[in-house]
Amino acid sequence: MIAGRRIVLGVSGSIAAFKGVALASQLVKAGASVDVVMTPSARRFIAPLSFRAITGRPVLTELWDEESSDAIGHVALGRAADLIVIAPATAATIARLAHGMADDALGATVLASSAPLLIAPAMEPHMWAAAATVENVTILRRRGAIVMEPGEGRLASGQIGRGRLPEPEEIVDAIAREFEREQDLMGRHVVVTAGGTREAIDPVRFIGNRSSGKMGVAVAEQARRRGARVTLIHGPLQVALPAGVEAVAVESTREMEEAIHSAVRTASALVMAAAPADFRPSAIAGQKIKRRASVTLDLVPNPDILARLADWRGIKVGFAAETDDVIENARAKVTAKRVDLIVANDVSEEGSGFGTDTNRVTFVFPDGRVESRPLQTKSAVADDILDLIVGLLALKEVVQPSST
Ligand code: PMT
Repeated sequence: MIAGRRIVLGVSGSIAAFKGVALASQLVKAGASVDVVMTPSARRFIAPLSFRAITGRPVLTELWDEESSDAIGHVALGRAADLIVIAPATAATIARLAHGMADDALGATVLASSAPLLIAPAMEPHMWAAAATVENVTILRRRGAIVMEPGEGRLASGQIGRGRLPEPEEIVDAIAREFEREQDLMGRHVVVTAGGTREAIDPVRFIGNRSSGKMGVAVAEQARRRGARVTLIHGPLQVALPAGVEAVAVESTREMEEAIHSAVRTASALVMAAAPADFRPSAIAGQKIKRRASVTLDLVPNPDILARLADWRGIKVGFAAETDDVIENARAKVTAKRVDLIVANDVSEEGSGFGTDTNRVTFVFPDGRVESRPLQTKSAVADDILDLIVGLLALKEVVQPSST
């Protein structure tokens, strides 16, 4: 997969820069053509010659050294790249990339490129946890960059914590996975739902839930990155809409159901990450309900959207937001909703479920199989779900070659 690919390796100024040499060497051995771009501070840690010796190619260190005989311009490099990997990426480099700074060779190369961007951070634990870095990483992930989680352990400073550069082997694996996923949903239409729905009580109040929309938005983003045409049907979101998707805003569960029915006509897959309200008031008060000793709401059930799509032939993925007996309840939902996959998340677990950037999920299949995943970013969970959808779509084509 890596063989024959053109990879730009960006190296920024960290004590871990020497691992960039090991990474370059592994990529070259795997058959890639590797162009290295160094930030000015990277050169304080390692000489460009080390990279040149390994890759056999000139190293770009300055934005303005393009007149020199063998230097390749940042624009040409960015455009020709099949993938850009930045390892190590310091907090400063991550900040510069998040803000589109193009005043050094690495920033300019990234900005000139539309290739997938893989970032392998390395920094002190408190810098990785700093609010500014967290926001910068979120910006880059929202734009489609893959930001790896740094490793945990003892750092060069003697501090112990999260901030170690992932090992070169892990970075090579992530690059290989990225090439495998590249455009594997091209030509597919994927419908994704995100966020909670709201059921009006009166003109100012509603029944809602804690869904931020992050999980569904991550699925929509990754599906778009992998080449799908994406329709994102969403309730109110606490995150920005991803670029390049067809967004349909809805408020109530019944509105969501209507939008889904019209969108799935041309779709190959539906991923229901939304948390639609299961109940709604039997009547909406025409005027604001005045304060009084007690108010009783009569609730009626909303339609079960997934269950009512039983006859639709695309791949159906549901989520299960559980607080207890996670697997048992998810198994019951696979059967009741007749889906191809339930993604169960324990929403009472820290770092999982509503509003978080991470999720720990378990895949529950109709044949009873169960696969647990570690705590990961919602983008990584989204990619795991899409990997399964790609597999299920391929299987369906083998079973029903031209009738679907
Ligand atoms: O949005 P975030 O803050 O990122 O949080 C993510 C999440 C916790 C909302 C998400 O990971 C999740 O678990 N979504 C499903 C929430 C939910 O409604 O779970 P449920 O167990 O009640 O429903 C099971 C499945 O049926 C879900 O796919 C749901 O979308 C679907 N459903 C639910 C109700 C309904 N009336 N019709 C449905 O189709």
